[in-house]
Amino acid sequence: MDWNREQRYRRWEDASETERKRLETIVNQCNWRQTFHIQPVTGLLNDPNGFSYYNGEYHLFYQWFPLGPVHGLKNWYHTKSKDLVHWENVGLALAPTDEFDSHGVYSGSAMEHEGQLFLMYTGNTRDEEWGRHPYQNLAVMNKDGHIKKLEKPVISAVPDGYTDHYRDPKVWKDGHDFFAVIGAQRINGTGAIMLYRSQDLIEWNLEGEVDIGLEDFGYMWECPDYFELADYGVLLFCPQGLVQAGDSYQNIYQSGYVLGNKLNVQERTLRNGCFRELDRGFDFYAPQTMEAPDGRRVLVGWMGLPEIEYPTDKSGWAHCLTLPRELSVKNGILKQNPVKELELLRGGKTEAQLTIDNETTRIEGFAGEVYELSLMFSNFSAGQFGVEVRAGDKEKTVLKYDTHEKKVIFDRSESGQATGIQYGTVRKCLVESDKISFRIFVDVSSVEVFVNDGAEVFTARIFPDKKSQEIRFFAHDGKTDIEAVKYEIKA
Ligand code: FRU
Repeated sequence: MDWNREQRYRRWEDASETERKRLETIVNQCNWRQTFHIQPVTGLLNDPNGFSYYNGEYHLFYQWFPLGPVHGLKNWYHTKSKDLVHWENVGLALAPTDEFDSHGVYSGSAMEHEGQLFLMYTGNTRDEEWGRHPYQNLAVMNKDGHIKKLEKPVISAVPDGYTDHYRDPKVWKDGHDFFAVIGAQRINGTGAIMLYRSQDLIEWNLEGEVDIGLEDFGYMWECPDYFELADYGVLLFCPQGLVQAGDSYQNIYQSGYVLGNKLNVQERTLRNGCFRELDRGFDFYAPQTMEAPDGRRVLVGWMGLPEIEYPTDKSGWAHCLTLPRELSVKNGILKQNPVKELELLRGGKTEAQLTIDNETTRIEGFAGEVYELSLMFSNFSAGQFGVEVRAGDKEKTVLKYDTHEKKVIFDRSESGQATGIQYGTVRKCLVESDKISFRIFVDVSSVEVFVNDGAEVFTARIFPDKKSQEIRFFAHDGKTDIEAVKYEIKA
C-alpha cells in the first residue's frame, strides 16, 4: 500500500472498530511476532520514550503510529513492568490532539517530581505550507496512571541560529535543579545539543549549546541523553549524516556516545571524549536510559531504523524495542550487558563442552526458534570459528570471529527475507582477546549478541523461515574449544 499524507495523518480514533480488528488479525497472523520483546499491537513502533521507575513500577513508553507500518501521526504508547522483563501493555498514553502537538507527539523523557511523573516531549506541528514548528511540552501522570497535558508548551520557541529540527528533550535532576538536553540542527546544517535548566520543570531557561568537541559531525543530532556513571559524564545522541568509515557508521543513521569528564554546566562542556557507536549491528537507534531504584543505569533502544522497509510491513506492523541493558564503564568505554532480571526468562538448560577441528557440527539438544545461548571460545588456532543460528537448508545467521583480522563478524546475508540490504549484509568490529564469548538472545525475528562481557553488542532483526532452527558450530583452518550453555525461554 502507498501511504499518502491523509492516510498517514489519521488518528487512532478515526479508525473504526472493524478496521482496528482487521488490522489486529493481520498482525497476529504474522510468523515474525516476537515472544519476549516489546512490540506494537499494530502499526509502527519507534523510539523508546519516558523510560522511568515510578510508583513501584518501570514505565516505558514508545513512539507509535497505530494504523500501519509507516511513520505517520505519532502517539506515545505506554507499557509497564515490575521486573524489566515482563511488560504489560497499558495503552495509548499521549495522542496528538492539541494545537501544540497536532502533527505528532514526538520523543521525550520522564522525571518524577512531587509525587507525579512528568513527561516532557516534543510536539510536532505543521503549518499550511507544511513547515515544521516544534514545541516542548509537558504532561503529568499521577499514581492512578491518569495523564494530563499542560495547557501550553513549556518551551515554545526555537532560539536564533537553529532550524525547526529541534526535539527530543531528556530531563535529569542534579541537586535542586532540573536540566534538559534537546537535539538540534544549526542553520549552517550541522547537528548540536542544547542545554536547558529549570527549578520546577515548567519554567525553562536556555543555557546554550553543549560543547563536546564535535563541531561538524552530521547534519542533525537526535535523541540526546546525559547521565553520569563511575565519575564520568556520558552523552548519548544520534547523529544523522555521517559517512561510512571502515567498519563504522554502516547504518543509515548512527547512535553512539561520548564519554569524558562530567558535564560542566556553567561552561557547558564535556571534555576528553570521543564518539563511539553503541551497537555494531544493523538495527539499533534512538536509545534512552534511566536510573533503576538500585542505582543501575539501564538502556533500551529501538530495534529498527528510519526509512527502511521490513518484511513485517505487509503484516501491518514494524519494529520492537531491544532488551534492557545495564551500562558500566571499563577502560574508558561503555560496557552493555543484559539486565540480570532477564534470567527470569530461563527455562530448560542444555550444556556442552567440545573441541572442534576444521569442521561444522551440531550438538544434541542445541536447536530452536527462541532461546538464550552462551558460548565461550578458547584455545583457538582456527582462522575463523563461530556459530550459525536459525539455520536450515538455505538459511543461516552467522556469528564468527576471524583470528587474522581480530574481528567479530555478524553476517545476515542468508538470514531469510532481507531488509536494508542497501546498507550491506555484514557488520564487523575489532575485538582483541584470546577468549571470545557470545551471549546471544534469539527471539522469533531478532538476534542480540553481547560480546566479551558486553564490550561490544550486535543487534539485528532477521526474518528466517519458521523451520530454520538448527544451531551449528564451526571452525575453519584449525580448532577451537567451545563451552556452550543454552536456555529455553519460558513463555
Ligand atoms: C528519532 C525521531 C525523533 C523524533 C521521533 C519521531 O527516530 O526522529 O527525533 O522525536 O523519531 O517519531
